[in-house]
Amino acid sequence: MQSSARRKPNRVAGAGARRIALIGAAAGMLGGALWGAAGPAEGQAKREAPLALEGPASPVPWKRYADWPKPSWDNFNTLAKTDASPPAPKPEAVRKIAEEIKGDPAQGQKLVFDRSRGGGCLACHAMGPATAGAQVGNVGPDLSEIGNAGRTDEWFYNYIFDARVYNPETVMPPWGAHGLYNGEEIRHMVAFLKTLKTPVKYRSDADNPEKRPVPKEDRDNLDALVNPGMWAVDKAKELWSAKGPSGGACVACHANPEAQFKTWAASMPRWEQRLNKVMGVEEFVFRHAKATTGHSWLMQSEQNLAMAVYLRHIANGAEIKVDVTSTPAKAAAARGHQLMERKIGQLNFACLDCHAPAKGALKWIRGQWLGESKGQIPHFPTWRTSRLEIWDIRKRFQWCGVAIRANDLPPDAKEYGELELYLTSLNNGLKFNVPGIRH
Ligand code: HEC
Ligand code: HEC
Ligand code: HEC
Repeated sequence: MQSSARRKPNRVAGAGARRIALIGAAAGMLGGALWGAAGPAEGQAKREAPLALEGPASPVPWKRYADWPKPSWDNFNTLAKTDASPPAPKPEAVRKIAEEIKGDPAQGQKLVFDRSRGGGCLACHAMGPATAGAQVGNVGPDLSEIGNAGRTDEWFYNYIFDARVYNPETVMPPWGAHGLYNGEEIRHMVAFLKTLKTPVKYRSDADNPEKRPVPKEDRDNLDALVNPGMWAVDKAKELWSAKGPSGGACVACHANPEAQFKTWAASMPRWEQRLNKVMGVEEFVFRHAKATTGHSWLMQSEQNLAMAVYLRHIANGAEIKVDVTSTPAKAAAARGHQLMERKIGQLNFACLDCHAPAKGALKWIRGQWLGESKGQIPHFPTWRTSRLEIWDIRKRFQWCGVAIRANDLPPDAKEYGELELYLTSLNNGLKFNVPGIRH
């Protein structure tokens, strides 16, 4: 077997010497259709991994995870849909408020605390002494003395209803225009804000978003006693020799994955011409396993997660290096960048509103520190101690969408691929450390 494997020169520069795949068996199974039984001649195009090209790589129809919020936000944009949200108002659309607003400040105070309204106001603003112990965030300015600023009732009302009439670049959700608070509720909040004239006094630095210590993740993520996510590595090693419906197992063609795939995952995701989309590790696992072994390891299945963790784990220490220079990859990454700027969901956020330092990143949204895009990739898939499960990057994308009340897409959606490619390109040069562990 070994000698028949060595007959086959590998055309991937550098990797060749280490490769000991049992291609004799492989060529038989694949019918030699790709390159003929003898394999590609020296200098011929890179041999492509067989993929099942037909059909989706995630369950159809896609159903949101059972323990996630249930509502459907069909009336708002998603990463795949741009024409659902109500259009942004023009500056001349300021709502005229002639009479003085006479709401109930006590009601207003309750409403700014109400987390069921897309997180409420305290997620981003301190609002006076009453909010001192509320773990307020600082994405927006401290409004504790806004009552001294000489603002008109009309300005207050409009700023809360839809701040885009004054500031088209605002990060703040259009609370009224997107139906999160009604007109009467906004009047109560205006009445409350007008009472705010005293700086907030925090009891401790932990309460103060300007002084709260930034969380640091320094657990030993590769120690199975620390990181339960290490189950995936053990599981994948078992799966490596598990025969699929067509009789094959990974091991038949890849006897020594830890040597053969030492850096492979660092080049993923990549533009995949055969699918006309960006393909990540998880989609590859499904389509390649299906083509070579008959296994149907759909994205988000336990087997898929385990294998995706393992293939990245093998590449731990390798520098992330995704291609965004070839023409189609560059175009896909550019689309990914645009998607990160697209306003989606009832809360009308773009990814970069929270993850670009010029906007919300490196600040607190309520008790959560907003990371910037660089540094977000190397630890995925990651064990989440608050959820007791592994999240791959697509599930993280889905969650950031649902959290801002935007419908999730299926994990294999082309939009997620483009996002993943762009985001990963921002992480080029960083080293894998998988499975990660996060709160
Ligand atoms: C996601 C963060 C976020 C949330 C949540 C949020 N805001 Fe804001 N808010 C901002 C930011 C950022 C600004 C700064 C100006 C801008 O971007 O428009 C702002 C500005 C304001 C201003 C104008 C301040 C000034 O002096 O110019 C008011 C008033 C205001 N917010 C009220 C509210 C109220 C009331 C709520 C809850 C219904 C709320 N905000 C929730 C982010 C937020
Ligand atoms: C019938 C043979 C065969 C089987 C079985 C097989 N593979 Fe492959 N695999 C290939 C071929 C051919 C390639 C193309 C690159 C090469 O020659 O190494 C490949 C490439 C890969 C690559 C690198 C992808 C790339 O783009 O070059 C990974 C990772 C991989 N296989 C994982 C697996 C896993 C996981 C399994 C089990 C689910 C598996 N393979 C089963 C034949 C096979
Ligand atoms: C309202 C703010 C908000 C928006 C909008 C948002 N996120 Fe997040 N995101 C968070 C928070 C909070 C976390 C968890 C804390 C952290 O790691 O930054 C997070 C975490 C992440 C992480 C994991 C970071 C890590 O290192 O574990 C990724 C990746 C991510 N977001 C991508 C996105 C993408 C892509 C979008 C757009 C579809 C998006 N986010 C939109 C708030 C947001």
